Amino acid sequence: MAGGSGTRLWPLSRALYPKQFLALNGPQTLFQQAHLRLKGLDATDIAVAAPCIVGNEEHRFLVLDQLREVKADPSSLLLEPVGRNTAPAVALAALQATAGGQDPILVVTPADQTVVDVDAYTAALQTAIRAAAGGDIVILGITPDRPETGFGYIHAGDAAADGAHTVQAFVEKPDRKTAEDYLAKGGYYWNSGMFVMRASRWLAALSHFRPDIAQATEAAFKASATDNVFVRPDKAAFSAVPSESVDYAVMEQCPRQPQAGFKVRMVPLDAGWSDLGAWDAVWQVSPQDGAGNASEGDALIHDSRNTLVHATSRLVATVGLDNVVVVETPDAVLVADRSRSQEVKSIVTALSQKD
Ligand code: GDD
Ligand code: MG
Repeated sequence: MAGGSGTRLWPLSRALYPKQFLALNGPQTLFQQAHLRLKGLDATDIAVAAPCIVGNEEHRFLVLDQLREVKADPSSLLLEPVGRNTAPAVALAALQATAGGQDPILVVTPADQTVVDVDAYTAALQTAIRAAAGGDIVILGITPDRPETGFGYIHAGDAAADGAHTVQAFVEKPDRKTAEDYLAKGGYYWNSGMFVMRASRWLAALSHFRPDIAQATEAAFKASATDNVFVRPDKAAFSAVPSESVDYAVMEQCPRQPQAGFKVRMVPLDAGWSDLGAWDAVWQVSPQDGAGNASEGDALIHDSRNTLVHATSRLVATVGLDNVVVVETPDAVLVADRSRSQEVKSIVTALSQKD
């Protein structure tokens, strides 16, 4: 899934160049890392097909160029004319995967995360893939270390012999108080956003819980125009698809309505996972000096602490800062309280209303 807009990493992340296509923590972009870390599966006994990318029409050349740089050939590139969030995006991939009469297991992954331990990731994926073969939707879950409100929370039960835990509840983006409760209680995991299931099971679950999204997406997919690896769902039909995330549309519903027969289970992932959602998270994964400062580009940090400076076109110097993020680009500069990084989203909203 590579079609998000990444607004909380403004001003580096822009509509035409969102964060998944940026190199934020090393030479490869987040999108390239998402592809490369799946390569671990090639060395296992699981037969792996070429990746299917679901992204926005406007980013098609970014996707192709970045795949070429890491020597990858996509099986197809599903190009959304407009963003309708992840529920329709995954439905498009499942429709494409089943179009030839096959029913493969899909490994769905966001394109905006980092994972340090690729071997542990591959092992967790293998467990999840085996568990999904029987028809379950299997999520990779992360042990939380703070009451983050930007994630989904999984209330997990015991593990079965196959290594996957039962899931009692899934709560997408709870408020601060609820997140603090979950952390205190224990037994809760963050939703990594990576999940595994048979393509047909996803389509059946979506048809059950959100028939409106399933039908509208299928209509748009059936009217697709195909041009080489590019598959373009019909613009008018896809624009009519209701916008919703997989988390609200399906993940929350399955444990809530067990009589529907769609089981969500969870495999823990302990591999140094990070969602580079906002500048605070970029600071967390960046190399830091003794005072907790991190920098990228031409930066001079004097007597400052826990500060992130990201300079792209000029020298940026700071004196006496504490807990601040400074991001410099040729046409916009952000200076923010690091602990309020999530609120950068409101700047982008305000800017788009100004246009
Ligand atoms: N193709 C496509 N189309 N991709 C999309 C779209 C879309 O309309 N919208 C978002 N994506 C992609 C993003 O680029 C990202 O790679 C992924 O789907 C997840 O979307 P985000 O918008 O980044 O979701 P989030 O971070 O707020 O929340 C999700 O991820 C968290 C973990 O990082 C949820 O699944 C949470 O439950 C989860 O904890
Ligand atoms: Mg995200």
